[in-house]
Amino acid sequence: MTDCRENLMRGKNLLASGALLLGVLALPSAWAIDPATLANAGTGTIAACASCHGKDGGGQASFPRLAGMNATYLLKQLGDFDSGARSNAVMQPIAKALSPEDRVAITSYYAEMPVPAAQTGPAPAPDPDRPGEKLALLGKWNDGIPACVQCHGPGGIGIGDAFPAIAAQPAGYITAQLRAWQAGTRKNDPIELMRHLSAKLSASDIKAVSEWFSRQPATAAGGSR
Ligand code: HEC
Ligand code: HEC
Repeated sequence: MTDCRENLMRGKNLLASGALLLGVLALPSAWAIDPATLANAGTGTIAACASCHGKDGGGQASFPRLAGMNATYLLKQLGDFDSGARSNAVMQPIAKALSPEDRVAITSYYAEMPVPAAQTGPAPAPDPDRPGEKLALLGKWNDGIPACVQCHGPGGIGIGDAFPAIAAQPAGYITAQLRAWQAGTRKNDPIELMRHLSAKLSASDIKAVSEWFSRQPATAAGGSR
């Protein structure tokens, strides 16, 4: 009986020290700039993310959708802008100005934001002869180009932390990324997967595939990620 109570006490102490440890670990995030403020109002030195990425986080033109994207992937991208592995005159200074805690807070904030309804509207009826759709779903094996969906998931909804969603991204943004890999200004892809592939794409391939993915829903039919 005494043993039992001692164990119980020990358990309680363990729990208490566990809670303390968690408290300490959780502390840095308390110092992050409030993500909603950063997103919508910015700070004295950092522009509001919403001013380019949209109030609803849905993106536009060459500004990517952040809403509903994988948090770990977005965090990696901020690190890549900071290191210069991904070069962009607008995002590099912004990424540098964010502390590690700010980056974690703002990427989780956007990952949890629902994808705007307009972007998830009905996709065009399937047409296996449409060039963008063919490339996305089947690739071009004669040219050594695998299907985009092999890595980016069905309809481009993304797989895990490493393979981002490209569905419901603005076509201008997708095009800009494929061109950046061709030009070598973006060189942050693991084992150069995207650099090898982009080098084989023609201008019309890029246009067609970008348009097709921009009109795909961000989540699998009837499901959520
Ligand atoms: C002045 C416009 C502008 C502002 C303000 C801005 N961004 Fe961006 N952001 C861009 C552009 C343009 C890109 C695409 C860069 C490229 O082509 O590589 C981008 C890309 C990104 C990406 C990469 C997304 C992906 O899918 O790879 C992240 C993450 C990001 N921005 C986060 C933020 C956050 C967080 C803020 C606010 C603190 C912010 N941005 C403010 C213009 C902006
Ligand atoms: C062999 C795997 C693979 C295939 C096939 C592939 N991708 Fe990717 N793609 C990746 C990986 C990995 C990344 C993430 C790179 C990084 O970490 O920055 C990526 C990133 C991207 C991005 C940038 C997304 C963002 O928001 O940062 C775009 C756009 C893209 N791919 C388009 C395509 C298109 C279009 C195709 C088909 C023509 C394709 N990909 C085929 C692996 C692949």
